[in-house]
This record gives sequence, structure tokens and C-alpha cells, in this order.
Amino acid sequence: MGVWWIVVVAAVLTHTASATVREYDWEVEYKFWQPDCKEGAVMTINGQFPGPTIKAVAGDTIVVHLTNKLTTEGLVIHWHGIRQLGSPWADGAAGVTQCAINPGETFTYKFTVEKPGTHFYHGHYGMQRSAGLYGSLIVDVAKGQRERLRYDGEFNLLLSDWWHEPIPSQELGLSSKPMRWIGEAQSILINGRGQFNCSLAAQFSNTSLPMCTFKEGDQCAPQKLNVEPNKTYRIRLASTTALASLNLAVQGHKLVVVEADGNYITPFITDDIDIYSGESYSVLLTTDQDPSQNYYISVGVRGRKPNTTQALSILNYVTAPASKLPSSPPPVTPRWDDFERSKNFSKKIFSAMGSPSPPKKYRKRLILLNTQNLIDGYTKWAINNVSLVTPATPYLGSVKYNLKLGFNRKSPPRSYRMDYDIMNPPPFPNTTTGNGIYVFPFNVTVDVIIQNANVLKGVVSEIHPWHLHGHDFWVLGYGDGKFKPGIDEKTYNLKNPPLRNTAILYPYGWTALRFVTDNPGVWFFHCHIEPHLHMGMGVVFAEGLNRIGKIPDEALGCGLTKQFLMNRNHN
Ligand code: C2O
Ligand code: CU
Repeated sequence: MGVWWIVVVAAVLTHTASATVREYDWEVEYKFWQPDCKEGAVMTINGQFPGPTIKAVAGDTIVVHLTNKLTTEGLVIHWHGIRQLGSPWADGAAGVTQCAINPGETFTYKFTVEKPGTHFYHGHYGMQRSAGLYGSLIVDVAKGQRERLRYDGEFNLLLSDWWHEPIPSQELGLSSKPMRWIGEAQSILINGRGQFNCSLAAQFSNTSLPMCTFKEGDQCAPQKLNVEPNKTYRIRLASTTALASLNLAVQGHKLVVVEADGNYITPFITDDIDIYSGESYSVLLTTDQDPSQNYYISVGVRGRKPNTTQALSILNYVTAPASKLPSSPPPVTPRWDDFERSKNFSKKIFSAMGSPSPPKKYRKRLILLNTQNLIDGYTKWAINNVSLVTPATPYLGSVKYNLKLGFNRKSPPRSYRMDYDIMNPPPFPNTTTGNGIYVFPFNVTVDVIIQNANVLKGVVSEIHPWHLHGHDFWVLGYGDGKFKPGIDEKTYNLKNPPLRNTAILYPYGWTALRFVTDNPGVWFFHCHIEPHLHMGMGVVFAEGLNRIGKIPDEALGCGLTKQFLMNRNHN
């Protein structure tokens, strides 16, 4: 009898856990909007900014029919944090996994979300992410499965930065000679809302800005977080900034960090959290403060000399009037250049008990030097002295159909000259462009060491958040100075390194990552700072090439694959 009972329960569970297909029709177009109370053009999805939040449960299939209603630009959307197991053509990286969708055309993304986590999606063609093409993608545990975190409610905060200069003009500046830098953002946005040149904390003397004058319901009015006393809330955070590294704090409240990039981590308590472009986190917040008060939520810039006002919102206890302003000034963002503090924060992140640990040894290794360079006087970023320019034919089609002319088949350098001085401006700053890729065998362990260096001029080294498509990697360690092969490996954490899809490369330092090539496809690995990627700061990995399934024709309508499809359909 016991056995039958188990069989019945199992059948019921598999039934309730059976996957849902969630299907959406999305149209992308520009609209005038006031993200920070000042009007500009933003990219909207179905008239919304940020785009609609996708909420799914693990195991679901997501289908998005994406129509390009822009009049003169191509379009793609990347599902950041989703591994695209078995659907590499749905990754949404223009030039890598698909052709850009032409104006007036529709492309269908179809993929499964196999595990719970906080993710987002964004444009991945030119600098369309900077233009506001992004939204949240949240995956809960499968029905019938128990969420291991305990909370009474949840909020979702998607963080971004916003410029008043239109994106085409920003792109032009970056590719001009001499380069015109985009400068610091005018505003930080929380769920697409910010306040330019005014402050929600103007009543305190530590700001010289006037009080904001928006009305409730305006596009730039902050969303308050309405909470009940003595409850625990899960706050999902994700950063899709073009440039800014951020720090978030909630006045008077501790945060317990529990999830990073869609993976559970060993919980730890903090007063504030650093979050870089491409990262996502969940924090738990318990509403244990005076319930007759409201509290500031602050988001400030770190890692670069800030020239952008802290973004503010309000944690509103329902027991206090919603309009009541907090009684003390907002949390002060930690010093922007206290990199030791930043590194210490990164080093607090360990995988949760029971998470898979990395293989003990690697089979292949890349050491990737990040440098700022010149090509005929144009400013570029390069990896091992190659600045990436993606080819007209997306790699995925070229490798699948063996189109030899699609890109340069010679691998880019797997390391750099070990006598390179990372502490000073490069003596020979010139570099070249390239479109070669790193091809790995299927199912091997790969280590990638990213190595930082000094920029072209002055004594400066910048932060670069590196993001990998198609995989989570283990972050094995961080170090200062030049990575020393044969020595620095001894400092790796092989016991409980966090699994992530984005890792920070700190100034003048290195970061070591490990992953297994278990996902047939072609995967972008790049700095998540939009202008850096635009200036060539990326590489491309390929693996399991003979296991790539049938690529939908609609992903191949450009470059050599277009010709290939026409020939195939004639024969
Ligand atoms: Cu969110 Cu290739 O990036
Ligand atoms: Cu960068």
C-alpha cells in the first residue's frame, strides 16, 4: 500500500509541476518619457518603460514575439542570466547568436527558465540598453516545490542610470577622434524613475538641491515600498546600468543577502550592498523599526568619482502617513574610491550549502589582459591586444554551417606578454580590431583569469564587471597586481565559491573564474559597461559546436547565412 501511495503522490507532483508556456507579444518603439522629470526619448515595450516584468516559475517556457517598431534601427533582446540550454539562438546577442531584427519584422524568442532566480532582460544591439530597453525577469520555484527563503512579501527594484544626451550622439562621441566621453549619468533610476536636480531629502542641510515638485502619478515619481511592521520582505535587486557601480542602503534597516545572479548564497548581514552592472541580488529586510516613521532607500554611485545625485525612494510603513518624510537624512553612500571596502564586500559572497562545487582542475585556461588602446587615434578597449568587432554574419550561423568567411578562424591570443607593466600607461598603446573567437571542446573545465591594467593616460585603472552568456561560473578568487601563474592558484576558493554570471575586475587586480563547457553554443563574454563593450571590450567563446541543434531560419537572415539559406532553399 505504501508503494502505491508514493506513486500517486509522485504523479500528482509531476502534474502540478508541469511547465506552463508563457507567451507574450511585444512591440518596441521610442516614446517621449520623463524618467527623471526631464523629457527624453526612451525605448519602450508595449508603451511601457521599463518593459513589462516577466514572472515565471522554474521549468516554464517563455515565448516572446518581439516586433521591431523602430523606424531605422535593428533590434534584439538578451535574457540576462538565462543559460539558454538547448536554445543558443534565443540568447539575443546581435552578431553573436542572431541577426538584428529589422524594422517591421518579428522574431520569436522561445526558451525555458530552468531554475529560480532574479534576472532581467535588455537590448543587446549597439547601445540600446542605454536607451532604456530593459525589464525584469523573475523566476520563482516550481509549483509544489518549497522556496527555501522565508518571507512575507516581495519587491523588485531594477536599477539603471540615465543620460540626457541621446544615445546616437553618445555613440558618435565614443567613436570620434579624439573620443568624447559620455561623462557621468544625469540620474540614477529605480524602476525607471529618478529625480534630476532636486531631492526627496531637500529638508536636510546636507543637500543644496531644491525639493522635487513632481506630482503623484508622474513618470518620475518614486515608487514607495509599502510595508507592514514586523514582517520580512524579499527585495530583488538588479542593475542594468550603462556605467555606474551602485550602492544601496535602507535607512535604519539591516539587509540579509541571500541570492546572487540567480543562485542561493550563504546569507550574510550588511548595512548596504554594492551592486554592479549585470549583477542581481535578493536581500531580506525585516521591518523592525519605529512603525510611525518612514525611511529612505538610497542608491548612490561608487567606483567612479560620482557626479550624479543619489537616487532616493521611501520605505513606507503602512502605520505611518505615506506623505510623511523620514525624520533624518538618507544613508551616505560609502566613499567611491574605497576599493578595499568594495573588494571586502565581494569576498563575503559564498555559495549556499549544498551548491555544486567546481571541478578541482582545469583543462584549458585563458589569461585575458584588459587594456585601453588606440587605433589610428580612436580610443578602444582591447583584450590581449584585440579589440572586438562582431562580424556581419552572427557566429552561431557561421560555425553551424561552417561558413569559412564568416569570421577569422584563428584564435585570438590565449594570454599576454608576461612582461607587460600593468601599473603604468601602455608604452605601445596601439591595438588592432579582430573577430576571432575561443573554441573549446565540449564538457571540459575552463579557467579564465581577467587581468586589469592602467588606462591610456594618468594613473588610473577602472572597474569592469565581466558577464558571461550561457553559463554560470564559479568565482574562484580575486587578487591585486599581476596574476602569477603557479602561485596565485593556491589562493583559490575551491570549497564554496559563488556561482554567478557576472564578476568584478577591480582596478590593478585580477579575478579568476571557472566554468564547464556543457552548453553547446556561442557565448558572449564581455564587460557589462555599455560604452566599454561598444569600444570593443569583449570576447566570444564557442563550445560543443557539433551538438548545436537546428537554428530557426529567422535568426539567420543577414550576412553569409542569408545567402546560405537562399541556396539551401533552392536545392
Ligand atoms: Cu547583460 Cu551581454 O549582457
Ligand atoms: Cu569595462
